[in-house]
Amino acid sequence: MTDEKKQNWERFPSREACIEQVAELMSVRATGAEPLALVRTYGCQQNVADSEKLRGQLREMGFSFTENEEEADLILFNTCAVRENAEFRVYGNVGNLKGLKRKKPSLIIGVCGCMMEQAHVAEKIKQSYPYVNLVFGTHVVHKLPELLYQTLTSGKRVFARGDDSEDKTIVEGLPIHRDRDIRTWVTVMYGCDNFCSYCVVPYVRGRERSRTPQAIEEEVRSLIAAGYKEIVLLGQNVNSYGKTLEQPISFSALLRRLDQIPGDYRLRFMTSHPKDATKELIDTMAESKHICHSLHLPFQSGNDRILREMNRHYTREQYLSLIAYARQKMPDIAFSSDIIVGFPGETYEEFRDTVSLVEEVGFASLFTFIYSPRVGTRAADMEDPVPPKEKSRWFQELLDAQEATADRLTDTIVGTTQRVLVEEVSEKRGVLCGKTEGNLNCDFPGPESLVGQFVRVKITESRNWVLKGTLLTDTTDTKA
Ligand code: 5AD
Ligand code: SF4
Repeated sequence: MTDEKKQNWERFPSREACIEQVAELMSVRATGAEPLALVRTYGCQQNVADSEKLRGQLREMGFSFTENEEEADLILFNTCAVRENAEFRVYGNVGNLKGLKRKKPSLIIGVCGCMMEQAHVAEKIKQSYPYVNLVFGTHVVHKLPELLYQTLTSGKRVFARGDDSEDKTIVEGLPIHRDRDIRTWVTVMYGCDNFCSYCVVPYVRGRERSRTPQAIEEEVRSLIAAGYKEIVLLGQNVNSYGKTLEQPISFSALLRRLDQIPGDYRLRFMTSHPKDATKELIDTMAESKHICHSLHLPFQSGNDRILREMNRHYTREQYLSLIAYARQKMPDIAFSSDIIVGFPGETYEEFRDTVSLVEEVGFASLFTFIYSPRVGTRAADMEDPVPPKEKSRWFQELLDAQEATADRLTDTIVGTTQRVLVEEVSEKRGVLCGKTEGNLNCDFPGPESLVGQFVRVKITESRNWVLKGTLLTDTTDTKA
């Protein structure tokens, strides 16, 4: 489809033919050398995972990768729509490409991801950034060869967003160019059906769709066989995994199945919605061999009226009782959460309930956001009388409370022994860097040969969110 018409994929050459053609046309543009692509990712892990699929397909089309805009033949921005400032950054960065495109007219510029699934955004790109060649949304990531083929052969700008039929498709078997070789992601489900009143995700990522347990298990097995040590299972709301499958299965059952895979690795998952996180899930974590005792459980607000307005379907009490149950089953569990400050109509007293919940639970880490109105969501129509300056003050108050609480929490880890996955060497600090089961960063001196291995580290100090420690002599620690 060029411009507004619906994409008719049947009229394209086969996928293989598109891949071949793009490879040929791009190598001519790059004057015979390997064409270079720059893929920049904004936003969440799901976008990081999508970018790995974009890179995988680009690899098939003969591209290598660069981080340098000046030398790129193709620049692709994979965007995020969850908050306004992420969108502003994208507009700024696309704007900055104008001069580059003038200097190098053969450059192909594409913008994709969540922002592009919103009609008003695609329209703005069309009107205000005429040098952007290709715009496409999250539902057609798997169509990159066809979209590039069309961009290169039609001489027109190409716009493609998901439609109802695409929405339901899960495409298996796409090539994935993984960024890292120790920790990686596996998407278990796409989309979200919750319609929290502030959130744009259900509009841009569509309805919940789960991959089959067979497909997930196969991918996880092959990653473990390839030597990956940590696999993070991804979904907007993993606890409703499997409900819409032909043979429904719970997320806990999926976890138990994956936990059976032999090998020395660990599993994490995100994101859990408190309304769907069950005792069965907690029990499964507690009884498993490979699942980290760490849980990302966004509570968003500590006040029941605000939770109702947010359409979250749980109360502060219910949230706290889930936390208490998890602590009882796994005393070493580490929690993290997402919080929104300044939801429309929130009062200072209601905001203080959020602070008190932070102090009560003690989170190892928090992702805190000031409310940002999103076009098309219910909250965007609500009265929002608190001025931004006031919300910023509340925000700072929350950060201060979290800092004090987290300091106390990390102090209790000093003196313990932690199982750490070594991820890299920090040349600057001259230490090995890794992560504990609770997902805390940990630095300690040791040989480079330990990168990619599990080791035991005695924690001696905690400073600015980083634990410091010493390697115990029995170095590697297998749990196969
Ligand atoms: N404004 C601010 N934060 C938001 N989030 C989602 N939508 C908004 C919004 N409109 C936050 C939530 C969610 C996280 C991924 O982003 O806290 O859990
Ligand atoms: Fe957005 Fe709520 Fe779905 Fe999370 S659960 S993606 S916050 S609608």
